[in-house]
Amino acid sequence: MSAFDPAVFSTTSRFELDHLTIGGVSASDLAEQFGTPLFVVDEADFKSRAFSWKSALEESFGEKSGSVYYAAKSFLAKEIARWVDGVGIGIDVCTGGELAVAIAVNFPASRIEMHGNNKSEAEIRSAIEYGVRTIVVDSFFEIERVARIAKELVKVQKVLIRVTPGVEAHTHEFISTAHEDVKFGFSLASGAAWDAISAIHGESSLELIGLHSHIGSQIFKSEGFAAAAQKLITLLARYRDTYGKELPELDLGGGYGIAYLPGEVTLNPLMIMNELAQIVKDECAQSGLSLPTISIEPGRAIVGPSTTTLYTVGTTKDVELDGGTSRKYVSVDGGMSDNIRPALYGAEYLAIVANRLPLGPTANSRVVGKHCESGDIIIREIALSADVQPGDLLAVPATGAYGYSMASNYNHLPRPAVIAVIDGSARLIVRREQIADLLALEI
Ligand code: LLP
Repeated sequence: MSAFDPAVFSTTSRFELDHLTIGGVSASDLAEQFGTPLFVVDEADFKSRAFSWKSALEESFGEKSGSVYYAAKSFLAKEIARWVDGVGIGIDVCTGGELAVAIAVNFPASRIEMHGNNKSEAEIRSAIEYGVRTIVVDSFFEIERVARIAKELVKVQKVLIRVTPGVEAHTHEFISTAHEDVKFGFSLASGAAWDAISAIHGESSLELIGLHSHIGSQIFKSEGFAAAAQKLITLLARYRDTYGKELPELDLGGGYGIAYLPGEVTLNPLMIMNELAQIVKDECAQSGLSLPTISIEPGRAIVGPSTTTLYTVGTTKDVELDGGTSRKYVSVDGGMSDNIRPALYGAEYLAIVANRLPLGPTANSRVVGKHCESGDIIIREIALSADVQPGDLLAVPATGAYGYSMASNYNHLPRPAVIAVIDGSARLIVRREQIADLLALEI
């Protein structure tokens, strides 16, 4: 398997002659013009992935296809929100901050869904004021708050209930969200989800339109989604039996897995949507329910593969290991502040030398950042060219999801710039943070 696997590098990245180009722009030119570390988002790739989820949903569910809500938590900037709007899909925001970005670009309120397990009164108020289509309620306190604020604003707010279906998603514990012992949602097994239905019915300023579940993230098998869908449909049937009418919508959340390493695969939108459609249709038919409108919330699967991080190598160091072997530590100018995923989830990434064609043998290497912490590792083990040296550029693909969005200022490192590349040109979409930005916060 070549390190330069097109499944890992986004579609418009190429190794041309002796250097990497992304969106038709040479990585070396990008580094020179914008500096490093640098998040490079391939605009065409992002849009085509967003579009492929939209068309897969439509093809699989036909007139019962609801919205694809791009999960803003994976990465959001104003320009990203404009692209999402341009593709005609919706956006899932889970804080007032994410909502503020959507509002800043006049994102249509009719395509916004508001999430969060602890939305503040101010967040709820600004969502209802702006007129977001749905609020996904997550606790009994929140049902009361949303109802009260909607009443004050003389509005009837559409809500979905976030249901915890008790499904074990086969992914890292910290990104698995639908087993019983989690902070999210109303448990199906305990009866809390059913009680939430009654609580919402008691509020004249709320309109219950359906159920939601999100089982976790970076999931590859359809079984987890299928099990969750089955459980939700059982609840829809109970609702119909009790209330004599059907809830019209089901939101199956996000979590579709992507390739990070050569040999891995990114879930194919049409394949997974077809599988889900089959399951949902069969289950509804068995329960005698009409097919609800289906929505989904992919984040990682849209932005993850579209983005590459460029780093400059600052130092290298050969460290002797037990048994007479050695490891080459390759230190780059970013690290856990722009990609916490390896430290937090043991996530694995690939790196390639992007400024030249590395020749000769490889060395057992570890790519590390510049933070004062031994766990500041981007790639624990990789065979990188033995001649990697200070000044070389490393490209780490598939960093678009939860890279910048989870970035920090650990060790007072300013956050990187984000640029968009398309058709041979590059432009800044989020400027590089400066030390002055950090100092400006201080009183
Ligand atoms: N919908 C809801 C309600 C969610 O909580 C999430 C992710 C998504 C959609 C989008 O999931 P995606 O399609 O991006 O997998 N920081 C972790 C991932 C946390 C995911 C949180 N919720 C990571 O870096 O892997």
